[in-house]
Amino acid sequence: MPLSPRLAELVAARRLGFSLPQAFYLDDEVYAVELAAIWRRGWLFVGYTGQLPAPGDYLSVAVADDPIVIIRGDDGQLRAFYNVCRHRGSLVCVEEHGHVGRLVCPYHQWTYGRQGELLSCRGMHEIDRAEYGLRTVHLAEVAGLVFVSLADTPPDFAPARQCLNTLAVPQGLDRAKIAHQVEYEIDANWKLVWENNRECYHCNANHPTYIRANFDHYNADDTTPRIRARIEAAVARSEARWAADGLAVTHKASGMTNFPDPEGKTWFSANRTPLVEGYLSETGDGRPVAPLMGDYRDFEVGTLRIRTLPNFWMHASCDHAVSTRLLPAGRQRTRAQVTWLVDAAAEEGRDYELARLLPFWQNTSEEDWSICRLQQRGVQSSGYSPGPLSTYKEYNVEAWLRWYLQQLIQAP
Ligand code: FES
Ligand code: FE
Repeated sequence: MPLSPRLAELVAARRLGFSLPQAFYLDDEVYAVELAAIWRRGWLFVGYTGQLPAPGDYLSVAVADDPIVIIRGDDGQLRAFYNVCRHRGSLVCVEEHGHVGRLVCPYHQWTYGRQGELLSCRGMHEIDRAEYGLRTVHLAEVAGLVFVSLADTPPDFAPARQCLNTLAVPQGLDRAKIAHQVEYEIDANWKLVWENNRECYHCNANHPTYIRANFDHYNADDTTPRIRARIEAAVARSEARWAADGLAVTHKASGMTNFPDPEGKTWFSANRTPLVEGYLSETGDGRPVAPLMGDYRDFEVGTLRIRTLPNFWMHASCDHAVSTRLLPAGRQRTRAQVTWLVDAAAEEGRDYELARLLPFWQNTSEEDWSICRLQQRGVQSSGYSPGPLSTYKEYNVEAWLRWYLQQLIQAP
């Protein structure tokens, strides 16, 4: 369906290289089109296979107004359904995760099997139960990550599978356990959270711990020759080491130079990048805080970084991985779930301590959420007008905004 003339005008009026006009962050029609064009069209990260090891284990998640349940069936397969009773529409699973023998609707106790089939409907013999199973939602798994799509025909998952199989399998996310999870409600539009994620212009002033471990706050285009030589040496040394260990650095199809690609075709990317000299892990002092994960035999694996649009990013070190899952909860509210993973065999107290595992990404995430809240306050005020993006430091924000606008233009 083409955009309404009003929205088409708004998209066309966006000045290249500038932040978005205010309406993109406040307008009900924009938000409704985003839900249709992005959140109900793409692949959404929901969780990890390790959260659902046994038949009957489930996770529920709300994508704006669409409640979804992901459950492992008796045949061992994961499936996703609308968490909406086929009788009169109540939520079926109320908890965010758990284990069930059957899914029983709390309203009139219609009962569904673990593969979504309607098993009983309290004496309503006149209906054909085969017609009233839970409505299915597409699901895809790769390297321990679980995605769902609410689209009738989702984008091809195969390229993402190929990329993540190449890069993410050695991290052992499919053999990891969740060490900790924190849920956040951020009073900011979901796009502001992504725009923040796509640049490190803010890092020096806002992320004192992050910048000690990473090179991102420098930039190949504007750093001094000394810094540039240092980064190039770290990259060359690391990449030679990883090549010898058979670890992939990037994936051709993942469009790494700019992510996302401005044409709006690529919704995922992954790459491995070195940490600052002396840092083996994204921790306060660079020392590992848990046993090696997955297939790693070497601590110097840098960080594996994965992003999938519209709702997931991860930084994974040799010993732990931390991901963020975003969900829109209104024009000015975003839910973020931050998850820390360690090797499944690691035991808290013996192999890792939360006090050492959490601070790096807990602080960095909360620093970002604070900035996003402040930006929302200003962006929604009558004093806001779009401002210029740095071509050195914010080129990936520009790429992200172009991806976003392309999604709207191509809205179904
Ligand atoms: Fe679920 Fe009636 S709404 S049983
Ligand atoms: Fe940040």
